[in-house]
Amino acid sequence: MASDVRADIVVVGGINTDFLVQGSRLPGPGEHAEGHLFLEGLGGKGANGAVGAARLGARVALVGRVGMDARGRALLEQLEGEGVDTGAVVRDPGATTGVSLEMVDEEGGTQSLGAPGANRRLTRDDVLRAEERISLARVLLVQLEVPLEAVSAAVHIARAAGLRVVLDPAPARELSEDLLEAVHVIRPNADEARVLTGVDVVDRTSARRAAENLLRRGVGAAVVAAPGGSLVLSSEGELWLPDRRVELADTTGAGDAFSAALAVAFSEGKTLAEAARFAHEASALATMRLGAFGGLPTRDQVESRLARLGPVALSPDGARM
Ligand SMILES: Nc1ncnc2c1ncn2[C@@H]1O[C@H](COP(=O)(O)OP(=O)(O)O)[C@@H](O)[C@H]1O
Ligand SMILES: [Mg+2]
Repeated sequence: MASDVRADIVVVGGINTDFLVQGSRLPGPGEHAEGHLFLEGLGGKGANGAVGAARLGARVALVGRVGMDARGRALLEQLEGEGVDTGAVVRDPGATTGVSLEMVDEEGGTQSLGAPGANRRLTRDDVLRAEERISLARVLLVQLEVPLEAVSAAVHIARAAGLRVVLDPAPARELSEDLLEAVHVIRPNADEARVLTGVDVVDRTSARRAAENLLRRGVGAAVVAAPGGSLVLSSEGELWLPDRRVELADTTGAGDAFSAALAVAFSEGKTLAEAARFAHEASALATMRLGAFGGLPTRDQVESRLARLGPVALSPDGARM
C-alpha cells in the first residue's frame, strides 16, 4: 500500500517472529520434552492486529520497530504481502527483531518466552512521525508490547483527531487513569482483567465486576474474555457472548483476532453490540488453527460462519444491549 493511501485503522504495537513447537505435553522447569510440529511465522500483537484487520477487509497501517536483520526484512515483506502499509515501521540498527518462543500442547495449553528486542525501542517520536497517518484514520488499535510513552502518544493523537481507540491491554500491566479515560473499548482477557482491576475473573458475574471497575475508571466500554464467554459492558447495557464449541487447536492470537475485528467493525460504523458479535466469531475461528498468523480469519470466513450458525445463543437472562 502506498503511504499516500489513507488507512482505516492504524495499529501501534509489537512485531515478532514466532517460533512455535507443538508437543503432546509442555515441559516442566528444567525438563526437555520432544515435540512433533514446528511453525515459524509473523507474530507480535501489533502485527497480528494489523494482519487480522487487513484480512477482514480494512486498509491498515502499522507503526512499530524491527531490527535491521533478515527476520525484520522478512516480516516487513510478509506484512506488505497482506496489504499492510509498513511505511511507519522503523528499521532499527541497534536491536534485533522481536522474537517469541511458543510451546503448545494438544489440549490448547500454551507457554511462551519472548525477547522483545526492537519493540522495546519504539519511541514517542516514532509515533509523532506517524501523526498524519493516525489522524486520517478512523480507528487506532493498540496493545502493550511497546513502551507506554509510545502507546500514550498514539492514543492522544487519536483522541484529538476524533478516532475510536481500541486497547488490547497485553501483556498485562497497571494503567493510568489518564490513558484509560482516552480509551473507547478495552478488551482484556481474564488474566489482564485481574491485573487491571484486582477482580478474579472466573465467570460472567466476575467479568461484569471487572468491566464495571474499568468503566468507573473512564473507559467507554469493556469486553472481558472470561472462561465460557465474553462479557460486553457499556453505559448502554450488557451483553454476554457464550463461547460456542469449537475444534480447538490453540488460542494463540484468538484475542488478537477479536481486537482486530472490533477495530474493523468500528471503522465501518457498526455499534458495539454488532462489533462484539462479529469479533466473537473471528476469535472462535482463530482458535481452530495453530499459531497466530495462520489462524487469523478472512472476512469471508467470518461472514459465512455468522450466516451458517446465526447469532450466538444468549444465556437465559440474555442481552440487555
Ligand atoms: N472454545 C472457544 N470458543 C470460542 N472462542 C474461544 C474459545 N476458547 C477461547 N476462545 C477465545 O480465545 C480468545 C483468547 O483471548 P486472549 O487470551 O486475549 O488471546 P491472545 O492474547 O493470545 O490472542 C478469547 O477471545 C476467547 O473468547
Ligand atoms: Mg489477548
